[in-house]
Amino acid sequence: MRTVLLNAGPIAHLAAGDSQKPLTGSAMSDMEALVYPSGYGLVIENGIFIEISDTESLAAQYSDGVESTTRDLNGRAIVPGLVDAHTHLLWAGDRSNEMRMRQSGASYRDIADAGGGISSTVSHTRLALQGDMEGILVEGRRRLAIALRCGTTAIEAKSGYGLDTESELALIQAAATLGKNSPLDISPTWLGAHDTPKGKSQEDYVDEILAEQLPAVVEQGIATYADVFCETGWFTTEQTTSICEAASKAGMGIRLHVDEFEDCGGLQLAGDIGAITADHAVHSTDEARAAASDRGCLQGFLPGTPYVLGTDLWPPVQQSILEGWAWTLASDFNPNCHSLSLPFTGSVVTQRLGVDPLAALIACSRNPATGLARADGLTQGVIEVGAVANLNVLWGEHVEGWCQTPGQTPFLATVSEGIWHSHE
Ligand code: NIG
Ligand code: FE
Repeated sequence: MRTVLLNAGPIAHLAAGDSQKPLTGSAMSDMEALVYPSGYGLVIENGIFIEISDTESLAAQYSDGVESTTRDLNGRAIVPGLVDAHTHLLWAGDRSNEMRMRQSGASYRDIADAGGGISSTVSHTRLALQGDMEGILVEGRRRLAIALRCGTTAIEAKSGYGLDTESELALIQAAATLGKNSPLDISPTWLGAHDTPKGKSQEDYVDEILAEQLPAVVEQGIATYADVFCETGWFTTEQTTSICEAASKAGMGIRLHVDEFEDCGGLQLAGDIGAITADHAVHSTDEARAAASDRGCLQGFLPGTPYVLGTDLWPPVQQSILEGWAWTLASDFNPNCHSLSLPFTGSVVTQRLGVDPLAALIACSRNPATGLARADGLTQGVIEVGAVANLNVLWGEHVEGWCQTPGQTPFLATVSEGIWHSHE
């Protein structure tokens, strides 16, 4: 089946240089190198871009027929399918009551100590996992539909609200099940070390993770990545190291939560152990940022989190551009941060922190795609011949519009693996 899309407005293809590598510094806002002017068209066959050229020659070459559908894009701007490389997609319960606690001055730690936070979500999630998984799956489908409407075509989904072997395996399985019938490509990550479950000492839980949970996850064979909440009060750098070494040995890629509330050396460690990405990274030192970047470790910034927590402790996005550090953006969708919209994340950094809209787009597509592999090995996050045919059609005529509608989707349609999904 062939789809021919003609008369595009500007296309932010983002495919300058080696598209398997992240872009950094001023190369992230080079309009000439990263955006085709208006008038191009795209040809898609079997879910892959096979030709990108000017509309006139494509129209002459590909006529509408039994095996070909043509669409006129009417000068609307095009951006790649977005890649959300940090989400806590699956959990049950409702923690919106915690806002009042935060407003009265309670910290994340205080709320956790008072029975809220991660452990409260764990109780609700374990309950939801009893019997069949239908409740978790129904909610998962609803969340994926929201993400697609906001232009996401690939999403990472962490476990981490089970915190025992059986429930962690069930959450990973649920992510895989959702991936089978979804227009989104889902990458499951095991986050057994998200918190210590009630009734266990941290040492005992880490022992259990190493002796029982991780081997079971490896045997299950679904999760390609492992993550640890490496943070003062949660898991130490030593514990993180032993869990990550064991996971790496088993062939898993490492993604970490680091230095969200204070610098515990998490980003430094991420660079040292060859992590793919170290996320939050709000309080990390400049030395650790430079070292991580040198070693190919992405800094995954999650500005939705300070936004919802009301801390205004923004990650150093502008500084990362100036210093040439490799950085990405993600939603961090979780029970505190109910946003699956990367256009909203883009709005925070562009409309509040002054980041260039093209740089923010790269941080939500090409750059995270370099650290989130599709099982079929196809390139994603850019629009180039041979890449998976994922893209978003904006309502407007400028690519910069992708991040300027914070409360609603800027997209008229999302194409995922060549299939047109209308948002009209
Ligand atoms: O990335 N910080 C750790 N994990 C999540 C939030 C978890 C929660 O509060 O349930 C995050 O922000
Ligand atoms: Fe997170």
